[in-house]
Amino acid sequence: MLFVNLEQIIKNIIIQKAKPIGFDEFMDLALYHPVQGYYRAGRQKFGEQGDFITAPETSDLFGFCLARQCMQVLDGKNDILEFGAGSGVLATQILPELARLGQLPKTYYILELSAELQQRQKRTINTMPPKLGNTVVWLNTLPQDFSGIVIANEVLDAMPAKRLIKQFTHFSELGVGCQNDQLVWQVFNQVYTNDKILPNNVSEGWITETNPRAAAWIDALSTVIKQGLVLLIDYGMNKDEYFHPQRGRGTLRCYYQHQASDDPFVHIGKQDITTSVNFSDIAQQAKNSGFEIGGYATQAMFLIALGIDEYLTQTDKNKHIDWAQQIKQLVLPNAMGESFKVLALTKNMAVKLRGFAEQDLSHKL
Ligand SMILES: C[S@@+](CC[C@H](N)C(=O)[O-])C[C@H]1O[C@@H](n2cnc3c(N)ncnc32)[C@H](O)[C@@H]1O
Repeated sequence: MLFVNLEQIIKNIIIQKAKPIGFDEFMDLALYHPVQGYYRAGRQKFGEQGDFITAPETSDLFGFCLARQCMQVLDGKNDILEFGAGSGVLATQILPELARLGQLPKTYYILELSAELQQRQKRTINTMPPKLGNTVVWLNTLPQDFSGIVIANEVLDAMPAKRLIKQFTHFSELGVGCQNDQLVWQVFNQVYTNDKILPNNVSEGWITETNPRAAAWIDALSTVIKQGLVLLIDYGMNKDEYFHPQRGRGTLRCYYQHQASDDPFVHIGKQDITTSVNFSDIAQQAKNSGFEIGGYATQAMFLIALGIDEYLTQTDKNKHIDWAQQIKQLVLPNAMGESFKVLALTKNMAVKLRGFAEQDLSHKL
């Protein structure tokens, strides 16, 4: 059978429809096409050999701090559910630290859409002692009902987003068309209407993103969570920053072998595509769906509140140098400290979360 590459598959879809597709549909195919999508095919994605490095790939201390936050909520009867677990490394940080703190979850679920990543995660989990490894269970769909802690690190930014462009007094969708056998940006003819508040103080041609799929995901989560905490950690900002008149090109970023670009039409299926999270939008959706806001802080202040620096006093000299370096990467403003935020959503839970003891910017959402 003739092999058709992903770029051609996408062009064929557009040609068959005889109209542009939404950027969300393009992003969905580029990242999640069952065979050739970036997150489905077997390329090394995470770490130095891959295209980008996430916080758990940067340092075990990230997972240790999350474990400390989990400990406050775990009661011996509830579970942890991690979405989009990448290489699986976060579970190998959280579980041993929780074991050390004497508070393991009943089950550590991983909901992973990619079969290839599930296999990779199983290999990583198998490096832990069986007592810990055996608590991990993989899911392909949301559980029927859930009590405990949901963790999603850099998952929202990987959800397919729509792009919008300001035209005269309204916004239209900026979709993907095919001209002269090239993928090109193409504006939809109709006005983009939904109930989201979009800025009206921006000039013509100003571009932004909106993520109805992330909103739907929050809503679906809310229907299954009976009691517990959701920790969303991602690259993003509140609505004032997101819709800043000077952010005129939106937040779309692509990563290929540690090079960032804003061109999603190259290396299709071989590069990561992300958009920043509008945390105000997510928080509003969460409240509409029945969650309460448990806190909102920069990654730096969240990790500091959980005592990331205390680990330095508990280790030997060799590890000390590495860990000091890694802490810088996780907390310094020009690294991941300020651009990454942590949003906590809670349901039926009256506890002041330790991670927000130093900073809670919920009022800015
Ligand atoms: C940038 S990676 C982050 C991986 C990992 N969490 C880390 O921090 O290293 C994004 C992950 O989100 C997953 N993802 C995206 N949408 C998802 C969804 N609706 N449900 C579960 N996982 C999803 C992708 O498959 C991918 O594994």
